[in-house]
Amino acid sequence: MTHAKRYLVTSALPYANGALHLGHLAGAYLPADIYVRYLRLMGKDVVWVCGSDEHGAAITIRAKKEGITPREIIDKYHELNQRTFEHLGISFDYYHRTSEPLHHETAQDFFLKLYKKGDEFEERTVEQYYDEDFHQFLADRYIVGTCPRCGHPEAYGDQCEKCGSDLSPSELINPRSTLSGKTPVLRPTKHWYFKLDKHAGWLREWIATGILDGKQHHDPRQWRKHVVGQCLSWLDGGLQPRAITRDLDWGIPVPLPGDEAAGKVLYVWFDAPIGYISSTKQWALENGKDWEAYWKGGDDVKLIHFIGKDNIVFHCIVFPAMLKAYGDFVLPENVPANQFLNFEGQKFSKSRGWGIEQHEYLEDFKDFPNKEDALRYALLRNLPENRDSDFKWDEFVDFHDKDLADNLGNFVNRVAVLTHKYYDGVVPAVDGPWQDKLEEVNRLALELGRELDNFSFKQAIQLFLDISSWGNTYLQDTSPWQIWKEDPDSLVVKECLFVSLQIVTLLSALCEPFIPFTSPRIRALLNLPPLKNGDLTGIFDQLQKGEALLPAGHRIGEAVILFAKINDRKDSSRLEIINSQKAKLEEVIKAEAARQAAQAPATVVAEAKPEIQYDDFSKLDLRTATILHAERVPKADKLLKLTVDLGYEQRTVVSGIALHYEPEAIIGRQIVLVANLAPRKLMGIESKGMILMAEDAEGRLGFVSPPEGWVNGASVK
Ligand code: MF3
Ligand code: ZN
Repeated sequence: MTHAKRYLVTSALPYANGALHLGHLAGAYLPADIYVRYLRLMGKDVVWVCGSDEHGAAITIRAKKEGITPREIIDKYHELNQRTFEHLGISFDYYHRTSEPLHHETAQDFFLKLYKKGDEFEERTVEQYYDEDFHQFLADRYIVGTCPRCGHPEAYGDQCEKCGSDLSPSELINPRSTLSGKTPVLRPTKHWYFKLDKHAGWLREWIATGILDGKQHHDPRQWRKHVVGQCLSWLDGGLQPRAITRDLDWGIPVPLPGDEAAGKVLYVWFDAPIGYISSTKQWALENGKDWEAYWKGGDDVKLIHFIGKDNIVFHCIVFPAMLKAYGDFVLPENVPANQFLNFEGQKFSKSRGWGIEQHEYLEDFKDFPNKEDALRYALLRNLPENRDSDFKWDEFVDFHDKDLADNLGNFVNRVAVLTHKYYDGVVPAVDGPWQDKLEEVNRLALELGRELDNFSFKQAIQLFLDISSWGNTYLQDTSPWQIWKEDPDSLVVKECLFVSLQIVTLLSALCEPFIPFTSPRIRALLNLPPLKNGDLTGIFDQLQKGEALLPAGHRIGEAVILFAKINDRKDSSRLEIINSQKAKLEEVIKAEAARQAAQAPATVVAEAKPEIQYDDFSKLDLRTATILHAERVPKADKLLKLTVDLGYEQRTVVSGIALHYEPEAIIGRQIVLVANLAPRKLMGIESKGMILMAEDAEGRLGFVSPPEGWVNGASVK
């Protein structure tokens, strides 16, 4: 990537309705921090903005559940998330909030500008669910019902969490309001739609070729394949106008006069990315800068969005279209989205207690030396850059002990100890050229810089490790301790330590973006001040010119142990911290197994029946089917009248399950039917077939279901 005058870097604004886990950190914050720290060391003009995303129905729902106000929720988590980031060395230039007046103004201005253009928005009156008891329209998340795809009775209006389908509230079978529990009614309501479809042409060209307004804007080969792939497949699906307003009492009021906009707010995904702009504005205000130089600086600016893969279309399609529609704004140079990080082989899940949140890590590891860098490093080695990856405590230990303690720590420590022992802590002078000794290290350092320019953070940390390994091997191969025993004035020993000290100095600078807490400790050991912005350019220059980074005659500081190994026979305290994390996970697994066992019958539930022949069994015509309709049978409190779909026909079946299931809860359910059972009349209704149910010791009934998504009418053998 060619360098620009100014860099504007953003990280996804986290929702202020919960704490963040390690997956979030690895996705949008740690890589951005490395990138920005690197740019600062290279003397670049960079601003990195983030903040809390404080609107949206997720926050009002959480507030309702906990019986507190949205304000209490956002204040709590804004503060927690901001503080936690800071502790981990995540060095935003500004961490703003979307509830701030400056943001409200900025988002409203954005809406109005597009509104006034006349052809960016359209108004539509649509039918939406309304809760008559609570007198309000229901956001998608406020509606639950049966999933039309899998029959899950608690699917949300926008998504079924069981089968993962995206839904719209009107697709739910038997929708109910989460506010009153009642069936909502459809009512017309007016909303504003952003005509995204209108922007499809230039968006496709920009994403596929990097050309914008007839000019090469960026090199599309620099974008990650999965990012471009996801965008193009979205564009292939066709863009539709998107509603950018909601009927909700929490958010930024739609800035239009009169009744038509009363009670309406901007959709959270319309206002949140504008939060990047307001965060920059607030930073500029407090630091005497000009925010427009960053957002409207044209070719002088490179805008980079750091996000997780679930946010790709918003940052590569929707927000760019909004910026372009407004006019004069820069579009992202790159969106290095990450894939997901799993935790010990499974998805992070707060409700299951699987995974660890950032602030929990800091608490649980409070007595662990260098906990911040240990975590940053472990995440970095396993960054989900191009595919999902997995965080494991065993790997955390390995990365810490092998890479940080044995490789880096040991090298730095040995060089310092030997310098004190042989030369009283003073960098020895060398005769003749030593530069060629550093050729390989120079090459690796320059390559590391290029990898960071290209957002290949995993590759970059590998190169860092390679430099440290090179130093270790060099020291070991030269074995100055052996030569020194015979000849304390040996030039070979002097050269070896001189060269090693140059490498340690280089490492003290190159490690800063990755493990920023360790950098000043190595600098102190070298008796050098912490790095300042721009220092790395000087160092690269010196390398290229063959100048020493640490001149002869310089007196170094005390040798220290940078990382105390976790696997240490004399001190088990660090291993205990890791083991208690593993124990927590075992508890989760045990508790889940116990819960399942409790559900299984303790005793035999029914007497065994006498043996039958295969022929007896094969007389049964068992078929998969789906329940289409269910109602109570009047005057029979055990019976439900069901319509089931067998694929080749629909039938009426009367089933004795009314004490176990609400009719509305079983619509869409897939079942197995005894299809050739002779018809019977029950309460005057002809029932053709019988539904297979499992019965436990307590007499509870449960459906026997085919695998999810199975076709109707398949025979069961
Ligand atoms: N809050 C959103 C999430 O966590 C991200 C918002 S990113 C922004 O998924 F662009 F909208 F700011
Ligand atoms: Zn479903």
